[in-house]
Amino acid sequence: MNVRPDFSKNANHAETAPAFLSVWDMHSYYGESYIVQGISFNVHEGEILALLGRNGAGKTTTLRSIARLGNPQVLKGEIWLDHQPLHRMASHEAAVAGLGLVPEDRRIIPGLTVEENLQLAQIQPPIGWSIERLYDLFPRLGERRKQEGVTLSGGEQQMLSIARALARDIKVLLLDEPYEGLAPVIVDEIEKTLRLIKEQGMTTILVEQNAVRALQLADRAIILDTGSVVFDGSAAEVLENEELRHEYLAI
Ligand SMILES: Nc1ncnc2c1ncn2[C@@H]1O[C@H](COP(=O)(O)OP(=O)(O)O)[C@@H](O)[C@H]1O
Ligand SMILES: [Mg+2]
Repeated sequence: MNVRPDFSKNANHAETAPAFLSVWDMHSYYGESYIVQGISFNVHEGEILALLGRNGAGKTTTLRSIARLGNPQVLKGEIWLDHQPLHRMASHEAAVAGLGLVPEDRRIIPGLTVEENLQLAQIQPPIGWSIERLYDLFPRLGERRKQEGVTLSGGEQQMLSIARALARDIKVLLLDEPYEGLAPVIVDEIEKTLRLIKEQGMTTILVEQNAVRALQLADRAIILDTGSVVFDGSAAEVLENEELRHEYLAI
């Protein structure tokens, strides 16, 4: 088990960035509250990384820090995406650089149909995923293209929220508890779709309370505990390590 990720001295230089997405010694604060306390990890191109940990461990704060939302404030550290310094960017610039955050609350825009939600997300000219390609991936959205987005079921809204991120030309998908509140049969469907998205080359960070489901899908896992990385290794290792699961994931 590799408890601390191994970083070369030059990990903070774009030319030698060790992975597709690199978070290096990141410290994040909400006002005076010191939440993410110097975390480092790598995400390799095309993999699914599960970001796990108990409630309040700092998972959402980590995703919001990477997406440069401003709250939390990242006061120290570097974040590199495909040789681009996200840590020097505002959130809209990070979005253009290829970051796609799907927040927990899904944020479907009221008054717009499914298709309008997707069209609004799509950049011009559309070099991200085409709307037809998204309907192939999410047939339910195709069937409901004329329906107002906010009237969809919870699972369908989650699909729309993911599809909307893909409609931009993103390089990495950050999912914050996509299975929350959904029936197991819908979780199955979303999981299947996430596998298809991976097969098409997407890099994904998956934050989930449903750790077993996330680990079954993920290649690797990071476990956070009070804002620090306490495990960095393969998803299979976590599934096999009862002590680790019990101590940090309560499963
Ligand atoms: N907007 C905020 N202002 C102040 N503290 C916050 C805010 N959001 C979260 N926190 C605190 O940061 C810590 C980590 O929260 P969070 O990243 O949401 O955890 P997780 O997603 O792992 O459940 C918690 O102690 C939480 O209370
Ligand atoms: Mg959270």
